[in-house]
Amino acid sequence: MSRLNLLEETRFEKLPVSIFADKETASKAVAARIAGIIRVKQEKSEHAILGLATGVTPLQVYAELIRLHKEEGLSFKNVITFNLDEYYPMQPGAEQSYVRFMHENLFDHIDIDPVNVNIPNGTLSPEEVNEFCLQYEKKISDLGGLDVQILGIGRTGHIGFNEPGSAPNSGTRVVTLHDLTRRDAAHDFGGKENVPVKAITMGVGTIFKAREIILMAWSGKKAPIIRKAVEGEISSDVPATYLQLSNNVEFVLDQDAAADLTRFNTPWLVKDMVWDEKNIRKAVIWLAKAVNKPILKLTEEDYNNNGMAQLATEQGPVYDINIRIFNAVQHTITGWPGGKPNADDSQRPERRDPAKKRVLLFSPHPDDDVISMGGTFIRLADHGHDVHVAYQTSGNTAVWDDDVLRFVEFAIDFGAAQGQDTTDLKALYAEMKAFFDEKTPNQEDLKEIQRVKGLIRKGEAIAGARYAGLPDDHIHFMDLPFYDRAKKQKKVSYEDDILQTMELLKEVKPHQVYAAGDFADPHGTHKICFNIIHEALKRLKATEDWIADCWLWLYRGAWHEFEIHEIEMAVPLSPQEVERKRMAIFKHQSQKDRAVFPGDDSREFWIRAEDRTKETARAYNQLGLAEYEAIEAFVRFHY
Ligand code: F6R
Repeated sequence: MSRLNLLEETRFEKLPVSIFADKETASKAVAARIAGIIRVKQEKSEHAILGLATGVTPLQVYAELIRLHKEEGLSFKNVITFNLDEYYPMQPGAEQSYVRFMHENLFDHIDIDPVNVNIPNGTLSPEEVNEFCLQYEKKISDLGGLDVQILGIGRTGHIGFNEPGSAPNSGTRVVTLHDLTRRDAAHDFGGKENVPVKAITMGVGTIFKAREIILMAWSGKKAPIIRKAVEGEISSDVPATYLQLSNNVEFVLDQDAAADLTRFNTPWLVKDMVWDEKNIRKAVIWLAKAVNKPILKLTEEDYNNNGMAQLATEQGPVYDINIRIFNAVQHTITGWPGGKPNADDSQRPERRDPAKKRVLLFSPHPDDDVISMGGTFIRLADHGHDVHVAYQTSGNTAVWDDDVLRFVEFAIDFGAAQGQDTTDLKALYAEMKAFFDEKTPNQEDLKEIQRVKGLIRKGEAIAGARYAGLPDDHIHFMDLPFYDRAKKQKKVSYEDDILQTMELLKEVKPHQVYAAGDFADPHGTHKICFNIIHEALKRLKATEDWIADCWLWLYRGAWHEFEIHEIEMAVPLSPQEVERKRMAIFKHQSQKDRAVFPGDDSREFWIRAEDRTKETARAYNQLGLAEYEAIEAFVRFHY
């Protein structure tokens, strides 16, 4: 059954979607709906039966419900809750338990009666658990079913823990978690190997019986699965597509999570466009890819058959459009990332003057510089620019424990060989070893261990930057304080990080700043690091003259790459430069073979970097541009 959709723009969408500017506004709207249900039920002296979810998605909804309780007198006395799921096995007091999550984020701050809270019990024996699931299901229906069920969505398309393969009529049961789900949870558990293999979850059928279903999703990370859930065929491969069969469902999204929907991603397919150079470039590059042709070979027919007739008629002949876009893409390519001296720069991504620029490359972790833009980094130094690199965080969490022992052993042996007294160091070594023997997943390291881990990464970063050609006084270790604070506190202020960044900027007075713009970094560090730089630059604008000439370039690469139509500077690398870049990445030995936090990409960083830059080169070549070994891509950010 597909929904009758009278709006042309949303004709690919098979269920109702509401899009909000950001997750805060969206969460407030969802909380207001839940509060409305609770109040209506209160007036009738009835219970409100809520289906709740855990994870990062509903956090702001819960925060807003708490605010409504504390500031606007919303009572939860008539509320009965059922949580979607729980890991199995799981002790309620464990750090990762959903019981603990719900208490910390909602129940401990409102006036709900504890007997009205229901969360799947992760402590039962295998013999008991099936009966428990049946009773859970029965309890919901005996109460007349859920008034509202809120949901997040996993990148597998799971709702609750109904992973691909789940049946539409499934009930509450024990399930096996998908590998991607376990990888996504790895950070909470201190490694994927510690994530339980199983979980108890309400079924798709249980969810379906709710009188209202609200699925929420925030951030670009969810955009691809949201597109599948909203526009894809109904299939057990993506359990969220079952929701297309419901008449009571609504997807509540922020703009980033909605970005892959047809109406935003390829809007020319569903509506008349106001064409500008930006969306023409995107559309033409999309068309070339869709029909698998280089830009200059696209025909009138290709335009007409692929939803781009409007552009062809308004701005054709199409060959002129093709040439214009081809040239625009051609002009992004430069072997002179710092600008080409004595050359006409009217069609180049960077200015010619000054011929020697001061460059400040910010690297969130100690290896992002070489992984993401190692070729350009080396090129800038080769061209004689005054290049500085600033490592924003120590990156100490991403070092394996056994490396710490190896380095301290070295220090002891070297000290002894020099005839020094190593008694204290040996005692510290014994303490570290004892700590590791007892260490539980995600336990915070001893201060000294954190220091050794930071020093290991510092040494590697120095080796990498020196290899790229930098003198030691151009290598800066910022050790921004937010990084350690963020591990302990939920709410973190970035004021001292911003001030420190402003100081460094004032010292270098760069013409070019490079910053990591790959906000899909699974731990959020890149986005925070970017925000700090952005804020520092904005504040300096008011007082510093040089800032008017300071361009901010974003790079990506460790986690994902820019889309081809977004790229504003494409720096091609020769095969030799690809190899030099690889050597620079190899200096980061603690990150080789297997990173502590690899994200959902199991490839080593140097392989990811090479694959991505080669892929960009291949995409350029397929558009009909010259064939390069690899390309590093940049987008200019106007602040
Ligand atoms: C949680 C649950 C899961 C999450 C989903 C998204 O109770 O059932 O389906 O909603 O994995 O997780 P987050 O919100 O952390 O992205």
